[in-house]
Amino acid sequence: MSGVDIASIKTNLEAQISAVTSSAELEEFRLKYLGRRGVLAELTAVIPSLPKEQRAAFGQEVNVLKDRIAGLIDEKQRYLGVATAAGGGIKVDIGLPGIAQELGHLHPVTQVITEICGIFTRLGFAVMEGPEVESEYNNFTGLNIPLEHPSRDAFDTFYLKDYQKLLLRSHTSPVQIRAMKVAKPPLAVVVPGRVYRPDAVDASHLFVFHQIEGFMVDKDIAFSDLKGVLEVFAKAVFGQKIKMRFRPHFFPFTEPSAEVDISCIICQGKGCSVCGRKGWLEILGSGMIHPEVFRHVGYDPAKFSGFAFGMGIERIAMLKYGIDDIRLFFENDLRFLKQF
Ligand code: PHE
Repeated sequence: MSGVDIASIKTNLEAQISAVTSSAELEEFRLKYLGRRGVLAELTAVIPSLPKEQRAAFGQEVNVLKDRIAGLIDEKQRYLGVATAAGGGIKVDIGLPGIAQELGHLHPVTQVITEICGIFTRLGFAVMEGPEVESEYNNFTGLNIPLEHPSRDAFDTFYLKDYQKLLLRSHTSPVQIRAMKVAKPPLAVVVPGRVYRPDAVDASHLFVFHQIEGFMVDKDIAFSDLKGVLEVFAKAVFGQKIKMRFRPHFFPFTEPSAEVDISCIICQGKGCSVCGRKGWLEILGSGMIHPEVFRHVGYDPAKFSGFAFGMGIERIAMLKYGIDDIRLFFENDLRFLKQF
């Protein structure tokens, strides 16, 4: 093609550039190739003397080579710059603002779980957890939930496809059964955990959410003990000024049963949109553990009595922080999460 062999220039480039270890050597390298009398200038000068049909292709090759050399020089320059800054410490400007390390924090649901478990552990409760995949027995039968009870329906419980005796627990109450089977009274336990229900998702429903269960069993545990413990809890979470009321209710695993309301923390009981003008907010379900539950775990109901309660964490968090849509907890929008 011509007297100048582009291919051999290319093969030597790598070796030469890696031998460069200083700015002075790099300048030498630059002059050798890109300087006014450098290799590239020489190559360009050859072009007019070439047969017409070869000029374009050759010129193109020269351009590619030029870009390649400029790239190598650039890269080396950056490398040498960094090396000097690190080695000699000359280029470090200590007046520049630093790069702030952003710190994360616990999810608001975790924070509320920690707070509530803390209140109960200070009252002497132990914290226990149970599995999310649970037996039908622990989730229902042991808790005196009859076979025909609507909550057993596939519409209200996620059953595991291949094995109908296993399900995703629909509440944390099965851990009552687990705890009482492995320990004898006296017993005071709280159980935080995830639960599942096939609900249609809206501002107040998700198919997975969190509950905290609590229960205490001993000789002579009375409903007044339940009231006392829950009052300490509710005032610690929502403030000393709130009022409480226990409304008669029904759960198969407690007798008597009650739902617990607190005076609305937004309107102080006067009636607003948050409490639906009722002045009260429901915060949990509770009651005295049913004798049938004691029989299932081998406790003598004539000897022991106990109370139990269960609450939805997201609901507590929503009331506490004035959040109006439960979905916000799991959308992972940092603008939401950063507020806690
Ligand atoms: N397990 C009940 C629920 O999920 C709550 C509850 C727990 C009620 C313990 C009474 C006693 O609704």
